[in-house]
Amino acid sequence: MSLSDSLLRKLADQVGTPFWVYDGGLIRQRIADIKAMTAAPGLQARFAMKACPATKILAEMNAAGIWIDAVSGNEALRALHAGHPAGNTPPVICFTADVFRDNALEVVLKHGLLPNIGSPAMIDQLAAAGYKGPISIRINPGFGHGHVNTCDTGGPSSKHGIWHEDLKATAAAAEKAGLDVVMLHSHIGSGPKIQELHDNLTRLAGEFAALIPLFPKLTAVSLGGGIPHNYRERDKQTTVAPLAELFARCREIIVKAAGREIRVEIEPGRYYVAPSCTLVTRVHDVKRTQSNAKGSGATFAMVDAGFVDLVRPAMYGSYHHIEILGKDPAQGTEPIVVAGPLCESGDVFTRGGADEELNPRQLPRPEIGDLLVLRDAGAYGYAMSSNYNSIGRAPQVWVNADGSAELISRRETIEDILKPETSAPIAL
Ligand code: LLP
Repeated sequence: MSLSDSLLRKLADQVGTPFWVYDGGLIRQRIADIKAMTAAPGLQARFAMKACPATKILAEMNAAGIWIDAVSGNEALRALHAGHPAGNTPPVICFTADVFRDNALEVVLKHGLLPNIGSPAMIDQLAAAGYKGPISIRINPGFGHGHVNTCDTGGPSSKHGIWHEDLKATAAAAEKAGLDVVMLHSHIGSGPKIQELHDNLTRLAGEFAALIPLFPKLTAVSLGGGIPHNYRERDKQTTVAPLAELFARCREIIVKAAGREIRVEIEPGRYYVAPSCTLVTRVHDVKRTQSNAKGSGATFAMVDAGFVDLVRPAMYGSYHHIEILGKDPAQGTEPIVVAGPLCESGDVFTRGGADEELNPRQLPRPEIGDLLVLRDAGAYGYAMSSNYNSIGRAPQVWVNADGSAELISRRETIEDILKPETSAPIAL
Protein backbone atom coordinates (compact mmCIF):
# COMPACT_ATOMS: atom_id res chain seq x y z
CA MET A 1 0.00 0.00 0.00
CA SER A 2 1.33 3.48 -0.67
CA LEU A 3 0.12 6.30 1.52
CA SER A 4 -2.81 8.14 -0.05
CA ASP A 5 -3.01 11.91 -0.40
CA SER A 6 -6.11 12.00 1.78
CA LEU A 7 -4.29 10.13 4.56
CA LEU A 8 -1.38 12.60 4.36
CA ARG A 9 -3.87 15.50 4.58
CA LYS A 10 -5.56 14.01 7.63
CA LEU A 11 -2.21 13.41 9.30
CA ALA A 12 -1.11 16.98 8.55
CA ASP A 13 -4.25 18.23 10.29
CA GLN A 14 -3.58 15.99 13.29
CA VAL A 15 0.16 16.44 13.85
CA GLY A 16 0.94 19.68 11.99
CA THR A 17 3.63 20.21 9.39
CA PRO A 18 6.34 19.34 8.71
CA PHE A 19 6.24 15.66 9.68
CA TRP A 20 7.77 12.37 8.61
CA VAL A 21 5.51 9.49 7.70
CA TYR A 22 6.67 5.87 7.30
CA ASP A 23 4.83 3.25 5.31
CA GLY A 24 5.15 0.35 7.77
CA GLY A 25 4.01 -2.22 5.20
CA LEU A 26 6.82 -1.20 2.86
CA ILE A 27 9.46 -1.39 5.61
CA ARG A 28 8.26 -4.90 6.46
CA GLN A 29 8.43 -5.83 2.78
CA ARG A 30 12.01 -4.53 2.58
CA ILE A 31 12.96 -6.47 5.71
CA ALA A 32 11.42 -9.59 4.16
CA ASP A 33 13.44 -8.99 0.95
CA ILE A 34 16.69 -8.90 2.91
CA LYS A 35 15.70 -11.93 4.99
CA ALA A 36 14.99 -13.90 1.81
CA MET A 37 18.25 -12.75 0.23
CA THR A 38 20.27 -13.91 3.26
CA ALA A 39 18.28 -17.08 3.95
CA ALA A 40 21.09 -19.44 2.91
CA PRO A 41 23.10 -20.92 5.80
CA GLY A 42 26.12 -18.88 6.86
CA LEU A 43 24.71 -15.50 5.83
CA GLN A 44 23.52 -12.86 8.33
CA ALA A 45 21.97 -9.43 7.74
CA ARG A 46 22.40 -6.43 9.99
CA PHE A 47 20.74 -3.00 9.89
CA ALA A 48 23.10 -0.01 9.80
CA MET A 49 20.90 1.84 12.28
CA LYS A 50 22.48 5.23 11.56
CA ALA A 51 20.09 5.34 8.59
CA CYS A 52 16.99 5.47 10.80
CA PRO A 53 17.34 4.81 14.53
CA ALA A 54 13.70 5.09 15.66
CA THR A 55 12.81 2.51 18.31
CA LYS A 56 9.81 1.39 16.27
CA ILE A 57 12.04 0.52 13.33
CA LEU A 58 14.72 -1.11 15.48
CA ALA A 59 12.02 -3.26 17.11
CA GLU A 60 10.83 -4.39 13.66
CA MET A 61 14.41 -5.39 12.85
CA ASN A 62 14.71 -7.29 16.11
CA ALA A 63 11.44 -9.15 15.52
CA ALA A 64 12.74 -10.20 12.11
CA GLY A 65 16.11 -11.40 13.44
CA ILE A 66 18.09 -8.63 11.73
CA TRP A 67 21.23 -7.77 13.72
CA ILE A 68 22.55 -4.23 14.31
CA ASP A 69 25.51 -2.15 13.25
CA ALA A 70 25.82 0.76 15.71
CA VAL A 71 28.30 3.66 15.55
CA SER A 72 28.05 5.31 18.94
CA GLY A 73 27.49 4.29 22.53
CA ASN A 74 24.05 5.85 22.38
CA GLU A 75 23.14 4.06 19.15
CA ALA A 76 24.02 0.77 20.85
CA LEU A 77 21.91 1.78 23.87
CA ARG A 78 19.00 2.59 21.52
CA ALA A 79 19.29 -0.89 19.99
CA LEU A 80 19.29 -2.45 23.48
CA HIS A 81 16.31 -0.27 24.41
CA ALA A 82 14.45 -1.61 21.35
CA GLY A 83 15.03 -5.18 22.52
CA HIS A 84 18.16 -6.31 20.70
CA PRO A 85 20.16 -8.60 22.99
CA ALA A 86 23.52 -7.67 24.51
CA GLY A 87 26.63 -9.85 24.33
CA ASN A 88 28.82 -11.31 21.63
CA THR A 89 27.57 -14.89 21.40
CA PRO A 90 26.27 -14.17 18.86
CA PRO A 91 27.33 -10.54 18.39
CA VAL A 92 23.87 -9.16 17.62
CA ILE A 93 25.02 -5.57 18.15
CA CYS A 94 28.31 -4.80 16.45
CA PHE A 95 29.90 -1.51 17.43
CA THR A 96 31.62 0.03 14.39
CA ALA A 97 33.54 3.22 15.04
CA ASP A 98 36.66 5.15 14.13
CA VAL A 99 36.83 6.84 17.53
CA PHE A 100 35.60 5.79 20.99
CA ARG A 101 33.69 8.86 22.05
CA ASP A 102 31.68 9.67 25.19
CA ASN A 103 30.21 6.46 26.62
CA ALA A 104 31.35 4.19 23.76
CA LEU A 105 33.98 2.15 25.63
CA GLU A 106 31.79 1.92 28.69
CA VAL A 107 28.83 0.61 26.65
CA VAL A 108 31.01 -1.92 24.80
CA LEU A 109 32.41 -3.24 28.07
CA LYS A 110 29.19 -3.18 30.07
CA HIS A 111 27.10 -4.93 27.41
CA GLY A 112 29.80 -7.18 25.97
CA LEU A 113 29.36 -5.83 22.44
CA LEU A 114 31.68 -6.76 19.58
CA PRO A 115 33.87 -3.73 18.85
CA ASN A 116 34.68 -3.24 15.18
CA ILE A 117 37.73 -1.01 15.29
CA GLY A 118 38.39 1.51 12.55
CA SER A 119 41.70 2.88 13.78
CA PRO A 120 44.85 1.07 15.02
CA ALA A 121 45.14 2.81 18.41
CA MET A 122 41.71 1.49 19.37
CA ILE A 123 43.37 -1.83 20.26
CA ASP A 124 45.40 -0.18 23.02
CA GLN A 125 42.40 1.90 24.07
CA LEU A 126 40.28 -1.25 24.46
CA ALA A 127 43.04 -3.05 26.36
CA ALA A 128 43.62 -0.04 28.64
CA ALA A 129 39.89 0.02 29.46
CA GLY A 130 40.13 -3.63 30.54
CA TYR A 131 38.37 -5.13 27.51
CA LYS A 132 39.22 -8.81 27.09
CA GLY A 133 36.83 -10.12 24.43
CA PRO A 134 36.90 -10.66 20.70
CA ILE A 135 37.28 -7.81 18.20
CA SER A 136 36.50 -7.07 14.60
CA ILE A 137 38.69 -4.97 12.32
CA ARG A 138 37.27 -2.51 9.80
CA ILE A 139 39.54 -2.47 6.77
CA ASN A 140 40.04 0.25 4.21
CA PRO A 141 40.81 -2.01 1.23
CA GLY A 142 42.02 0.88 -0.92
CA PHE A 143 39.05 0.87 -3.30
CA GLY A 144 35.35 1.66 -3.18
CA HIS A 145 32.70 4.04 -4.40
CA GLY A 146 30.03 6.27 -2.84
CA HIS A 147 27.15 8.24 -4.38
CA VAL A 148 29.22 11.38 -3.79
CA ASN A 149 32.88 11.72 -2.82
CA THR A 150 32.04 12.49 0.79
CA CYS A 151 30.30 9.09 1.02
CA ASP A 152 33.23 7.18 -0.45
CA THR A 153 34.30 4.76 2.25
CA GLY A 154 37.21 2.95 0.63
CA GLY A 155 40.40 4.46 -0.80
CA PRO A 156 43.24 6.78 0.16
CA SER A 157 40.95 9.75 0.86
CA SER A 158 38.64 7.81 3.20
CA LYS A 159 39.04 8.23 6.95
CA HIS A 160 37.34 4.90 7.61
CA GLY A 161 38.99 1.71 8.72
CA ILE A 162 42.56 0.48 8.93
CA TRP A 163 44.57 0.76 5.73
CA HIS A 164 44.93 -2.71 4.19
CA GLU A 165 48.73 -2.56 4.14
CA ASP A 166 48.81 -2.00 7.92
CA LEU A 167 46.98 -5.20 8.82
CA LYS A 168 50.03 -7.28 9.67
CA ALA A 169 51.01 -4.75 12.32
CA THR A 170 47.40 -4.56 13.54
CA ALA A 171 47.17 -8.37 13.80
CA ALA A 172 50.38 -8.39 15.84
CA ALA A 173 49.12 -5.58 18.10
CA ALA A 174 45.84 -7.44 18.71
CA GLU A 175 47.69 -10.63 19.59
CA LYS A 176 49.97 -8.73 21.96
CA ALA A 177 46.92 -7.20 23.66
CA GLY A 178 45.32 -10.65 23.95
CA LEU A 179 42.35 -9.70 21.76
CA ASP A 180 41.13 -12.32 19.27
CA VAL A 181 40.26 -10.96 15.85
CA VAL A 182 37.02 -12.82 15.03
CA MET A 183 35.71 -10.63 12.24
CA LEU A 184 37.01 -8.60 9.31
CA HIS A 185 34.77 -5.86 8.00
CA SER A 186 34.67 -3.40 5.14
CA HIS A 187 32.01 -1.01 3.88
CA ILE A 188 33.11 0.19 0.51
CA GLY A 189 30.54 2.69 -0.50
CA SER A 190 27.10 3.99 0.19
CA GLY A 191 24.90 3.91 -2.82
CA PRO A 192 27.16 2.94 -5.72
CA LYS A 193 25.63 1.57 -8.89
CA ILE A 194 24.62 -2.06 -8.63
CA GLN A 195 27.36 -3.29 -11.00
CA GLU A 196 29.95 -1.49 -8.86
CA LEU A 197 28.52 -3.24 -5.83
CA HIS A 198 28.99 -6.61 -7.58
CA ASP A 199 32.55 -5.80 -8.68
CA ASN A 200 33.58 -4.30 -5.34
CA LEU A 201 32.15 -7.10 -3.21
CA THR A 202 33.64 -9.86 -5.36
CA ARG A 203 37.01 -8.12 -5.13
CA LEU A 204 36.57 -7.62 -1.38
CA ALA A 205 35.79 -11.32 -0.85
CA GLY A 206 39.10 -12.10 -2.58
CA GLU A 207 40.95 -9.64 -0.31
CA PHE A 208 39.35 -11.17 2.80
CA ALA A 209 40.25 -14.68 1.57
CA ALA A 210 43.90 -13.63 1.22
CA LEU A 211 43.92 -12.25 4.78
CA ILE A 212 42.66 -15.41 6.47
CA PRO A 213 46.13 -16.82 7.34
CA LEU A 214 46.83 -13.60 9.30
CA PHE A 215 43.73 -14.08 11.45
CA PRO A 216 43.45 -17.71 12.62
CA LYS A 217 40.56 -16.99 15.04
CA LEU A 218 38.33 -15.52 12.32
CA THR A 219 34.68 -16.65 12.43
CA ALA A 220 33.00 -13.96 10.29
CA VAL A 221 33.50 -11.31 7.64
CA SER A 222 31.23 -8.36 6.89
CA LEU A 223 30.82 -6.98 3.39
CA GLY A 224 29.19 -3.78 4.71
CA GLY A 225 26.12 -2.08 3.30
CA GLY A 226 25.54 0.09 0.27
CA ILE A 227 22.67 -1.48 -1.66
CA PRO A 228 21.79 1.47 -3.89
CA HIS A 229 18.49 3.32 -3.98
CA ASN A 230 17.34 5.06 -7.15
CA TYR A 231 16.07 8.44 -5.91
CA ARG A 232 15.44 9.80 -9.41
CA GLU A 233 13.73 6.91 -11.18
CA ARG A 234 11.62 5.67 -8.33
CA ASP A 235 10.04 2.81 -10.25
CA LYS A 236 13.46 1.42 -11.21
CA GLN A 237 14.72 -0.01 -7.94
CA THR A 238 17.38 -2.64 -7.40
CA THR A 239 15.84 -6.07 -7.12
CA VAL A 240 17.75 -7.63 -4.28
CA ALA A 241 16.86 -11.28 -4.97
CA PRO A 242 19.76 -11.65 -7.48
CA LEU A 243 22.15 -10.35 -4.82
CA ALA A 244 21.59 -13.63 -2.94
CA GLU A 245 23.81 -15.25 -5.55
CA LEU A 246 26.48 -12.56 -5.14
CA PHE A 247 26.61 -13.04 -1.36
CA ALA A 248 26.61 -16.82 -1.68
CA ARG A 249 29.51 -16.55 -4.15
CA CYS A 250 31.45 -14.24 -1.81
CA ARG A 251 30.86 -16.72 1.01
CA GLU A 252 32.11 -19.59 -1.14
CA ILE A 253 35.38 -17.73 -1.88
CA ILE A 254 35.94 -17.05 1.83
CA VAL A 255 34.90 -20.46 3.18
CA LYS A 256 37.06 -22.19 0.58
CA ALA A 257 40.10 -20.12 1.54
CA ALA A 258 39.50 -20.73 5.26
CA GLY A 259 38.73 -24.42 4.93
CA ARG A 260 36.11 -23.94 7.66
CA GLU A 261 32.78 -22.23 8.27
CA ILE A 262 32.96 -18.42 8.16
CA ARG A 263 29.78 -16.35 8.59
CA VAL A 264 29.29 -13.71 5.93
CA GLU A 265 27.43 -10.59 7.00
CA ILE A 266 25.94 -7.64 5.18
CA GLU A 267 24.67 -4.44 6.81
CA PRO A 268 22.56 -2.26 4.55
CA GLY A 269 20.90 0.81 6.02
CA ARG A 270 19.32 2.72 3.17
CA TYR A 271 17.71 -0.27 1.45
CA TYR A 272 15.41 -1.11 4.36
CA VAL A 273 14.05 2.38 4.90
CA ALA A 274 14.75 4.87 2.07
CA PRO A 275 11.52 4.54 0.06
CA SER A 276 9.20 4.09 3.01
CA CYS A 277 9.22 7.63 4.31
CA THR A 278 7.80 10.91 3.04
CA LEU A 279 8.56 14.30 4.53
CA VAL A 280 5.33 16.29 4.42
CA THR A 281 5.56 20.09 4.43
CA ARG A 282 3.17 22.96 3.83
CA VAL A 283 3.62 25.79 1.34
CA HIS A 284 3.59 29.10 3.22
CA ASP A 285 4.21 31.42 0.28
CA VAL A 286 5.16 31.55 -3.38
CA LYS A 287 7.38 34.50 -4.28
CA ARG A 288 9.67 35.64 -7.09
CA THR A 289 12.98 37.29 -7.72
CA GLN A 290 13.60 39.07 -11.03
CA SER A 291 16.55 38.57 -13.37
CA ASN A 292 19.31 41.16 -13.21
CA ALA A 293 23.00 41.44 -14.12
CA LYS A 294 23.87 38.91 -11.40
CA GLY A 295 21.61 36.12 -12.56
CA SER A 296 18.20 34.80 -13.46
CA GLY A 297 15.10 35.29 -11.38
CA ALA A 298 13.31 32.37 -9.80
CA THR A 299 9.98 31.36 -8.31
CA PHE A 300 10.38 30.17 -4.73
CA ALA A 301 7.90 27.88 -3.00
CA MET A 302 8.51 28.64 0.68
CA VAL A 303 7.80 25.53 2.76
CA ASP A 304 7.98 24.86 6.48
CA ALA A 305 10.61 22.06 6.30
CA GLY A 306 14.26 22.92 5.90
CA PHE A 307 17.67 21.32 6.02
CA VAL A 308 17.22 20.95 9.77
CA ASP A 309 14.76 18.25 8.72
CA LEU A 310 16.16 16.75 5.51
CA VAL A 311 19.81 17.76 5.06
CA ARG A 312 20.74 15.51 2.11
CA PRO A 313 20.03 18.07 -0.67
CA ALA A 314 21.97 20.82 1.13
CA MET A 315 24.79 18.51 2.16
CA TYR A 316 25.30 16.37 -0.93
CA GLY A 317 23.15 18.02 -3.60
CA SER A 318 20.98 14.90 -3.31
CA TYR A 319 17.80 14.57 -5.33
CA HIS A 320 14.46 13.84 -3.65
CA HIS A 321 11.32 13.52 -5.72
CA ILE A 322 8.86 16.35 -4.96
CA GLU A 323 5.08 16.42 -5.43
CA ILE A 324 2.43 18.98 -4.61
CA LEU A 325 -0.59 17.11 -3.33
CA GLY A 326 -3.67 17.58 -5.47
CA LYS A 327 -1.77 19.19 -8.36
CA ASP A 328 -1.28 17.07 -11.45
CA PRO A 329 1.95 17.77 -13.39
CA ALA A 330 0.08 16.76 -16.57
CA GLN A 331 -1.88 20.04 -16.21
CA GLY A 332 1.32 22.06 -16.62
CA THR A 333 4.52 22.74 -14.72
CA GLU A 334 7.00 25.57 -14.30
CA PRO A 335 10.49 25.85 -12.76
CA ILE A 336 10.12 26.13 -8.98
CA VAL A 337 12.78 26.43 -6.30
CA VAL A 338 11.64 24.79 -3.06
CA ALA A 339 13.13 26.58 -0.05
CA GLY A 340 12.73 26.29 3.71
CA PRO A 341 12.40 28.47 6.81
CA LEU A 342 16.02 28.62 7.96
CA CYS A 343 18.11 31.75 8.05
CA GLU A 344 20.48 30.27 5.43
CA SER A 345 20.34 30.90 1.71
CA GLY A 346 21.42 27.28 1.22
CA ASP A 347 18.15 26.09 2.76
CA VAL A 348 16.90 24.85 -0.60
CA PHE A 349 15.70 21.34 -1.48
CA THR A 350 16.10 21.77 -5.24
CA ARG A 351 19.83 21.84 -5.71
CA GLY A 352 22.20 20.15 -8.07
CA GLY A 353 24.84 20.63 -10.72
CA ALA A 354 28.56 20.87 -10.27
CA ASP A 355 28.40 23.89 -7.96
CA GLU A 356 25.23 22.73 -6.24
CA GLU A 357 23.51 25.88 -7.39
CA LEU A 358 19.74 26.43 -7.43
CA ASN A 359 18.22 23.82 -9.63
CA PRO A 360 14.56 24.72 -10.10
CA ARG A 361 12.29 21.69 -10.44
CA GLN A 362 9.50 21.46 -13.04
CA LEU A 363 6.46 21.40 -10.75
CA PRO A 364 2.84 22.48 -10.92
CA ARG A 365 2.55 26.00 -9.53
CA PRO A 366 1.93 25.59 -5.78
CA GLU A 367 -0.43 27.76 -3.78
CA ILE A 368 -0.28 28.87 -0.17
CA GLY A 369 -1.60 26.06 2.02
CA ASP A 370 -0.76 23.22 -0.39
CA LEU A 371 1.02 20.20 1.01
CA LEU A 372 4.37 19.59 -0.68
CA VAL A 373 5.98 16.20 -0.14
CA LEU A 374 9.58 15.03 -0.42
CA ARG A 375 9.80 11.32 -1.17
CA ASP A 376 12.31 8.62 -0.24
CA ALA A 377 13.33 10.41 2.94
CA GLY A 378 13.53 7.33 5.20
CA ALA A 379 17.29 6.84 5.12
CA TYR A 380 19.47 9.55 6.66
CA GLY A 381 16.38 11.78 6.87
CA TYR A 382 15.16 12.14 10.45
CA ALA A 383 18.45 10.50 11.47
CA MET A 384 20.44 13.53 10.28
CA SER A 385 17.97 16.20 11.36
CA SER A 386 19.18 18.89 13.74
CA ASN A 387 18.11 21.65 16.05
CA TYR A 388 19.73 24.50 14.14
CA ASN A 389 17.72 27.71 14.51
CA SER A 390 16.25 26.02 17.64
CA ILE A 391 13.40 24.71 15.54
CA GLY A 392 12.99 21.29 17.16
CA ARG A 393 12.74 18.01 15.29
CA ALA A 394 9.53 17.24 13.44
CA PRO A 395 7.35 14.31 14.53
CA GLN A 396 7.50 10.83 13.02
CA VAL A 397 4.35 8.88 12.16
CA TRP A 398 4.13 5.17 11.37
CA VAL A 399 1.28 3.91 9.19
CA ASN A 400 0.37 0.23 9.31
CA ALA A 401 -0.62 -1.81 6.29
CA ASP A 402 -4.27 -1.57 7.45
CA GLY A 403 -4.10 2.24 7.32
CA SER A 404 -4.01 2.81 11.09
CA ALA A 405 -1.44 5.37 12.22
CA GLU A 406 0.74 5.86 15.27
CA LEU A 407 2.86 8.81 16.42
CA ILE A 408 6.31 7.29 17.04
CA SER A 409 8.05 10.51 18.06
CA ARG A 410 6.42 13.84 18.89
CA ARG A 411 7.51 17.28 17.77
CA GLU A 412 10.35 18.59 19.93
CA THR A 413 9.47 21.50 22.15
CA ILE A 414 11.39 24.44 23.56
CA GLU A 415 11.63 22.43 26.82
CA ASP A 416 13.43 19.61 24.95
CA ILE A 417 15.83 22.13 23.43
CA LEU A 418 16.59 23.83 26.74
CA LYS A 419 16.94 20.58 28.69
CA PRO A 420 20.77 20.20 28.50
CA GLU A 421 21.40 23.82 29.48
CA THR A 422 22.69 24.36 33.02
CA SER A 423 24.75 26.79 35.01
CA ALA A 424 26.71 24.09 36.83
CA PRO A 425 30.07 25.27 38.16
CA ILE A 426 33.11 23.26 37.00
CA ALA A 427 35.64 22.46 39.71
CA LEU A 428 39.09 23.30 38.30
N1 LLP B 1 27.94 0.01 7.23
C1 LLP B 1 28.80 1.00 7.51
C2 LLP B 1 30.00 0.74 8.27
C3 LLP B 1 28.51 2.31 7.07
O1 LLP B 1 29.38 3.28 7.33
C4 LLP B 1 27.31 2.56 6.36
C5 LLP B 1 27.00 3.91 5.94
C6 LLP B 1 26.45 1.49 6.11
C7 LLP B 1 26.78 0.23 6.55
C8 LLP B 1 25.12 1.65 5.41
O2 LLP B 1 25.21 2.14 4.13
P1 LLP B 1 23.85 2.21 3.24
O3 LLP B 1 23.42 0.79 2.98
O4 LLP B 1 22.85 2.92 4.04
O5 LLP B 1 24.24 2.95 2.02
N2 LLP B 1 24.37 10.16 5.00
C9 LLP B 1 24.65 9.58 3.69
C10 LLP B 1 25.09 8.16 3.78
C11 LLP B 1 26.28 7.96 4.69
C12 LLP B 1 26.47 6.53 4.98
C13 LLP B 1 27.54 6.28 5.95
N3 LLP B 1 27.73 4.90 6.23
C14 LLP B 1 23.41 9.74 2.80
O6 LLP B 1 22.49 10.42 3.21
O7 LLP B 1 23.40 9.24 1.68
